[in-house]
Amino acid sequence: MKKIIVTGGAGFIGSHTVVELHEAGYEPIVVDNFHNSEKSVLEGLKRIIGKEVKSYAIDCADPAAMESLFASEGEISGAIHFAAYKAVGESVEKPLEYFRNNLDSTLVLMDAMLRYGAPHLVFSSSCTVYGQPEKLPVTETSPILPAQSPYGATKQICEEMMRQTIEIGRKPLRAIALRYFNPVGAHPSAEIGELPRGVPSNLIPFITQSAAGLRPPITIFGNDYNTPDGTCIRDFIHVVDLAKAHVKALELLEKQAEPAFYDIFNIGTGQGNTVLEAIKAFEEATGVPLQYKIGPRRAGDVAGLENRTYAGRCHARRVALATEADGG
Ligand SMILES: NC(=O)c1ccc[n+]([C@@H]2O[C@H](COP(=O)([O-])OP(=O)(O)OC[C@H]3O[C@@H](n4cnc5c(N)ncnc54)[C@H](O)[C@@H]3O)[C@@H](O)[C@H]2O)c1
Repeated sequence: MKKIIVTGGAGFIGSHTVVELHEAGYEPIVVDNFHNSEKSVLEGLKRIIGKEVKSYAIDCADPAAMESLFASEGEISGAIHFAAYKAVGESVEKPLEYFRNNLDSTLVLMDAMLRYGAPHLVFSSSCTVYGQPEKLPVTETSPILPAQSPYGATKQICEEMMRQTIEIGRKPLRAIALRYFNPVGAHPSAEIGELPRGVPSNLIPFITQSAAGLRPPITIFGNDYNTPDGTCIRDFIHVVDLAKAHVKALELLEKQAEPAFYDIFNIGTGQGNTVLEAIKAFEEATGVPLQYKIGPRRAGDVAGLENRTYAGRCHARRVALATEADGG
């Protein structure tokens, strides 16, 4: 079985991808420092997969720890790099922590992959790389405008680090950056889902925790956007579909003849929904009423996903990755 390192594999998207990798016949190896995840996720994975998932509780920005992992694992076919800090608002408060963690982890991983000859890399990028788009919908050919937050900047820089290393430096690495829109949902087994530490920065875990009485009423950040109900529009994609897209990306990398290869894909559904619509949908599906209030716009949020016709939509240039993945 081909070994795939899954950095951030105990996190929300990483844990769902571990399941899909296993089902596709790979051996996933989780690397996570549990900064934003619980060790109990590994138990959930074991119950889904039917056996223990190999895991390393290390910081993947730590060169010595990553060196010893690569040295002890032998042949590694590739890596899916989820490990990062991901809260837009927090990144505005703590920019240098975000730059250090997100850039160092990518640099250390790529360095080890090149030295140990691990040829395939799938990178978790984000639609935040488009900054405040002038034209919607965004496609992979849309310009990369100045990032609206330190978090978005880390994704732009990591993408450029990969592109320069591969396309300009011609180093033997095949990589794909997947620019996700907004992943939501949980594995149908309910053994894993979205369980961030502390106050959730994403909408759906805040909704579920607020409904369960664990959090105060939901604050919607702004209702003066140019959208049908004034709240931000986002392109929500089911996390299992997104996880499957990573396996497709790996398979695409394995088909490449050139040793140096780099590409990018948007991963979304192309369907935008407002924050208020998401709240109403939860209420309808569960019968649990939610309490919410309107607050000011949040620093770092992209205000521009607000075009009435296309707002928040991801129209992938090549949507095969997203449309073939129909699980969840
Ligand atoms: N969830 C989203 O809305 C979204 C959207 C676009 C892109 N992304 C990107 O996808 C990736 C995964 O997101 P997620 O929602 O699963 O986040 P998550 O916080 O649930 O998972 C990230 C995991 O990485 C781990 N981690 C962080 N830094 C680490 C380090 N230095 N060493 C080892 N482990 C480390 C955390 O403990 C966590 O388990 C991130 O790179 C994120 O930026 C997420």
